Amino acid sequence: MSISIDFAGTLWKTLILVTLPHLTCHALCPASCLCGLDGGVQCHGNTIADVPELLPVNASQLLLDRTNITVINKQSLANKKLLLRFGLTSSPLHTIYPGAFQVAPQLKSVKLSSNNLSTLPARVFSPLNTLEQLHVDSNQLETIAPDMFKGLRELFDLDLSSNRLSSLASGLFEGLTNLTNLNLCKNSIKKFPPTIFHNLTNLRVLAICYNELEVLEAGIFDDLVNLVELKIHRNKITSLPLHVFWALRNLKTLTLSSNRLEAIPEKSFYNMPKLNKLNLFNNPLLSLPKQLMGHMPDITEFYLSATNLTTAPGNLFANMSGLRKLKFNFNKQLRELPSDLFCCNPKLQTLSLISNDLRSLHPQLFSRLGKLMELLIDNNELQSLPDNIFQGAVNLAVVKMGGNPWNCVCSIISKWMKQNRHVVVDRANVICHSPAYRLNQTVDSLPDEEIDFCDGRIFRPTHHPGREPMTPLHTIQTSRPTTTPLTSYTFFTTCLS
Ligand SMILES: *[C@@H]1O[C@H](CO)[C@@H](O)[C@H](O)[C@H]1NC(C)=O
Ligand SMILES: *[C@@H]1O[C@H](CO)[C@@H](O)[C@H](O)[C@H]1NC(C)=O
Ligand SMILES: *[C@@H]1O[C@H](CO)[C@@H](O)[C@H](O)[C@H]1NC(C)=O
Ligand SMILES: *[C@@H]1O[C@H](CO)[C@@H](O)[C@H](O)[C@H]1NC(C)=O
Ligand SMILES: *[C@@H]1O[C@H](CO)[C@@H](O)[C@H](O)[C@H]1NC(C)=O
Ligand SMILES: *[C@@H]1O[C@H](CO)[C@@H](O)[C@H](O)[C@H]1NC(C)=O
Ligand SMILES: *[C@@H]1O[C@H](CO)[C@@H](O)[C@H](O)[C@H]1NC(C)=O
Ligand SMILES: *[C@@H]1O[C@H](CO)[C@@H](O)[C@H](O)[C@H]1NC(C)=O
Repeated sequence: MSISIDFAGTLWKTLILVTLPHLTCHALCPASCLCGLDGGVQCHGNTIADVPELLPVNASQLLLDRTNITVINKQSLANKKLLLRFGLTSSPLHTIYPGAFQVAPQLKSVKLSSNNLSTLPARVFSPLNTLEQLHVDSNQLETIAPDMFKGLRELFDLDLSSNRLSSLASGLFEGLTNLTNLNLCKNSIKKFPPTIFHNLTNLRVLAICYNELEVLEAGIFDDLVNLVELKIHRNKITSLPLHVFWALRNLKTLTLSSNRLEAIPEKSFYNMPKLNKLNLFNNPLLSLPKQLMGHMPDITEFYLSATNLTTAPGNLFANMSGLRKLKFNFNKQLRELPSDLFCCNPKLQTLSLISNDLRSLHPQLFSRLGKLMELLIDNNELQSLPDNIFQGAVNLAVVKMGGNPWNCVCSIISKWMKQNRHVVVDRANVICHSPAYRLNQTVDSLPDEEIDFCDGRIFRPTHHPGREPMTPLHTIQTSRPTTTPLTSYTFFTTCLS
């Protein structure tokens, strides 16, 4: 009997093959392959130019990766009656013969990812009427015939991502009632036919990210009552139809980030009580409606970054009662926040407002954030903070406030920082912008006398040329006589003017 032993170039393995002949006739393993006892055969390397003809008799899986195979021909899969999973990936495969799968109708899984396929023969997968998994991602497909998946009633996982598809036929997925995962990301799809996802009542994950979508058709998701994840990020969507997500009552993840939304219709995110991830960042949103978020207690993290919002409706986060982490940052035009914005987020632990355009903060803004531990307000346009702004936030452990044009005269920030130095982790960047004689000094380095001096004064903010006056500061009354070791004439005049 001739045994292929190229893979086992060692005397040791040869000996095993010779001394255990009963095993070898079952375990005939092709060159450049590893054959496991579980029926798995994995082959690897560009010396492989064809699908191996002979496999161990009970081989149930054949995975060929990084080979030199260009063609799957009529007989490639013949005589492999027990094979259930076939993979040929990361290879220069460009041609599949029309009848290639007729000889292996028992296959449950076919993976042809990362090859060079630009067309598929008509109904090439149709003989596989018990197929459950089909991956043709990362090829060069430009079109798919409308009847390509006809009859694949058991298909539950279909991956067509990373091809060059620009449009799909309306009935392409018709009849795939068992489909659970559908990945169409990273193509060039501009528009979907409005009923293309109808019938997919078992779909759990739908990914249409990284395409060229400009619109979503009204009603497009209406049958997807079992959908758990919907990924639409990185498209060019400018508007959403009314109530487009309302059928998705089981949805947990919705990503709409990196689109071109300037507005979102009222109540768009109602009726999704299980939602726990919602991504809207990187859309040029100009404003948001007063009613937008329905009851979504499972959302623990929410990012609303890189928008064009100038403010937000006061109840924007009110229905996110379980929120622990909120990043409302890098909104370059976000100037003000309503006082009740964080009214109903008692579990919030991390709040990032970094790199907005905030000019002032309302005294009550953080007053109901008893669990807040980390607050980031660095890189805004804040000159001062209202007295007692941190009073309700009793658990604050980390604050960043650098990169703001702090006014260091008689301001709450210097007093507060004096008492909370350890909390301000970016002290070295908390720098005075005014008055002029303090320019570029760290607030941390201001002399105590100067801060003490301000206690007992009624004072008003300084005005910057070209800047709006900031919110009036508080009055601190005290009967304590002020110490007067004052150093600078400018300081006097600013403070008392
Ligand atoms: C495949 O055959 C080998 C050798 O006869 C045997 O050890 C192994 O258990 C078989 N595996 C399966 C999944 O039947
Ligand atoms: C891969 O196949 C091409 C022809 O299809 C051949 O020119 C090349 O030598 C092969 N590479 C190896 C490593 O066998
Ligand atoms: C893919 O196929 C095209 C022709 O269709 C060929 O020009 C190209 O070299 C192939 N690429 C690879 C990686 O095999
Ligand atoms: C869908 O899959 C289930 C198993 O998950 C199977 O019992 C059922 O027959 C399949 N439906 C169809 C239409 O094939
Ligand atoms: C599939 O969807 C189409 C279009 O919405 C509809 O006409 C048809 O009744 C649906 N078929 C099934 C089996 O749900
Ligand atoms: C919060 O959700 C409930 C139910 O989903 C809704 O009736 C209410 O209007 C929502 N509140 C806001 C501010 O949108
Ligand atoms: C959003 O702001 C950016 C600059 O931050 C600007 O280029 C863009 O035109 C704005 N978009 C809208 C819709 O206002
Ligand atoms: C203050 O710092 C800025 C930026 O580092 C610098 O451009 C400027 O010259 C400094 N001014 C003074 C008075 O030190």
